Amino acid sequence: MRTRITTLPGDGIGPEVTAEAVRVLQAVAAIHGYRFEFEEHAIGGVAIKQYGSPLPRTTLDACLASDAVLLGAVGAPEYDRLPPNQRPEAGLLLLRSALGGYANLRPAISYSSIGACSPLRDEIAYGADILIVRELLGGLYFGEPRGIDAVNGTTVARNTMRYSVEEIERVARVAFEAARKRRGKVTSVDKANVLETSQLWRQTVARVAAQYTDVTLEHLYVDACAMHLITNPRRFDVLLTENLFGDILSDEAAVITGSLGMLASATIGGEVGLYEPVHGSAPDIAGSGTANPCGAIASAAMMLRHSFQLEQEASEIELAIENVLEAGYRTPDIAKGTGGYVVTTSEFGEVVCEAVTEIADMRHAYHAV
Ligand code: NAD
Ligand code: IPM
Ligand code: MN
Repeated sequence: MRTRITTLPGDGIGPEVTAEAVRVLQAVAAIHGYRFEFEEHAIGGVAIKQYGSPLPRTTLDACLASDAVLLGAVGAPEYDRLPPNQRPEAGLLLLRSALGGYANLRPAISYSSIGACSPLRDEIAYGADILIVRELLGGLYFGEPRGIDAVNGTTVARNTMRYSVEEIERVARVAFEAARKRRGKVTSVDKANVLETSQLWRQTVARVAAQYTDVTLEHLYVDACAMHLITNPRRFDVLLTENLFGDILSDEAAVITGSLGMLASATIGGEVGLYEPVHGSAPDIAGSGTANPCGAIASAAMMLRHSFQLEQEASEIELAIENVLEAGYRTPDIAKGTGGYVVTTSEFGEVVCEAVTEIADMRHAYHAV
């Protein structure tokens, strides 16, 4: 099996965590005799510096010509004053729309071995396992008109929240299909008590639900959902939401796991799958070798599952992460109160590679007897 993976390390801790995800993929390739060809390209702040654009043509072309894209993070404080369309983040949004993936899957799982680093009490977070399905190509992020204009002697800024029935239907179907393979429940999040886009969202999701009689649907307003998410996370299975609500709720869901560095994502439904951790470039810790690579490594696992149909290899990476946490390895963000030993980003990646190899060896030995 030969596959071409474009890597886009980006800014801040992006290169540090991406290197570990690549290392784990290389370990999987070595175990199974797969050929993963990696080609690295610039995106975000580094691309602005090098090419004058947050998404250079060569980067976009490479992504479109590859089988999957693995991204680190974009963004740096030095670009904070630029208008939205010139910032590093604009490169990521352009890439998302060019690749066409409209469903962004963001799992949030509470691991008992690091439960103590979550500010949530054990009895609240323990066992929580949520899949956020975030719509990724619509809503306020892409709606027109947008901009800042002079109007009647003052300055007015506008963004447009817009959704069509088709845009809602396609992401809803992803959520219901996912729920079928999980615990059979979809919670659809909206603000239908105020917003027309949410009214259409609610009606459309309810109509799609009629085709999935084996799945239970509930609707929650986003403000209440934000509260339930950290007071009773176990009540959720699949959480379906529009773009901006999903952005906010997924960082909140990180509290369940204990660190933003734990969360992975997969963007599916387009020509080429895009895999990226949920966290950003973390300028406060960039370059210190302390970034948690779990989100990036788990995103690589999602790539194997969703782009290459390598379910077993994906599960083995996920199990390796769990085993490494259980063995006590920690980056500083997940160390507090959990015991174990603090290691660097690359040491953590290394032990995950060892665990992946061990798991595969055990499986081979089991099949040999
Ligand atoms: P952030 O996610 O970068 O960091 C928030 C906090 O979480 C920081 O304290 C950081 O140190 C910590 N953190 C994040 N990832 C971590 C990891 N892997 N290990 C340990 N700690 C981790 O969010 P921010 O500070 O609001 O944004 C910084 C920049 O990143 C901004 O420019 C923003 O636009 C960008 N951003 C990019 C992406 C992306 O590329 N997908 C996502 C979110 C934010
Ligand atoms: C995320 C990020 C991005 C988003 C930014 C960097 C554009 O916060 O992936 O969660 O808002 O989608
Ligand atoms: Mn975000």
